[in-house]
Amino acid sequence: MLLHHCTWKEVEERLQSSKGIMVPIGSTEQHGPNGLIGTDAICAAAIAAAAGDELDVLVAPTIPVGMAQHHMAFAGSMTVRPSTLIQLINDWVMSLSHHGFTHFYFINGHGGNTPTVTAAFDELYAGVSLSADGAPHIRCRSVNWWQGKRTSELRKKLYGAKEGAHATPSEVALTQYIDRDTIKNVPVDGVAPPPGAFADASDYREKFPDGRMGSDPTLANPEDGEKLLGVCVADVVEDYNKFVGNAA
Ligand code: NI
Repeated sequence: MLLHHCTWKEVEERLQSSKGIMVPIGSTEQHGPNGLIGTDAICAAAIAAAAGDELDVLVAPTIPVGMAQHHMAFAGSMTVRPSTLIQLINDWVMSLSHHGFTHFYFINGHGGNTPTVTAAFDELYAGVSLSADGAPHIRCRSVNWWQGKRTSELRKKLYGAKEGAHATPSEVALTQYIDRDTIKNVPVDGVAPPPGAFADASDYREKFPDGRMGSDPTLANPEDGEKLLGVCVADVVEDYNKFVGNAA
């Protein structure tokens, strides 16, 4: 259930038995010629909502803008600095910790967030370790939705090497299944350059002119998106249960 759809009394009641919460984290950035700018936030939110329903676990508001400085040469992309994202994650977690949540399970939709999310968790733990009484008790985990076992296998089976590393057919398929009205029937010309290193936004655009990195998102379709959502939820449910144990 979404935190947004609860009353404060319902949250207070839940905290008696469950102190875990999911936090979707995405990005707002170009996703190639046919991918939505909101792809990473849309995917993370949908997976968290579905897994949260299956587990009967609360889902916090999505962090919609991530660390995407390298996409800023494409119109519509937004970014927060790593330092801002660390503060944002800190305030998301500490707000919820204040009420008694202890286990924070981030479902990440954007690989570019990973180093910053890791640093944010270290900041949170440092705050606890340096406090006189070691309080509050906090445990954080972040998973990239595309890297679960079942999900990785399905991505490989569906798209092989054409999955690529950015604006992938799997993420585009997910958004197509989540909202068919957003499907873009537009041409995608040429083969995307293979994944590789990049620095700032102009460097990224020079190396990856239409935004794609090694991917062929024309392979995406909503039917694949439905299958991908199913395996993603199975991966997340299994991993979340391991993470929380009987931690309440
Ligand atoms: Ni993405």
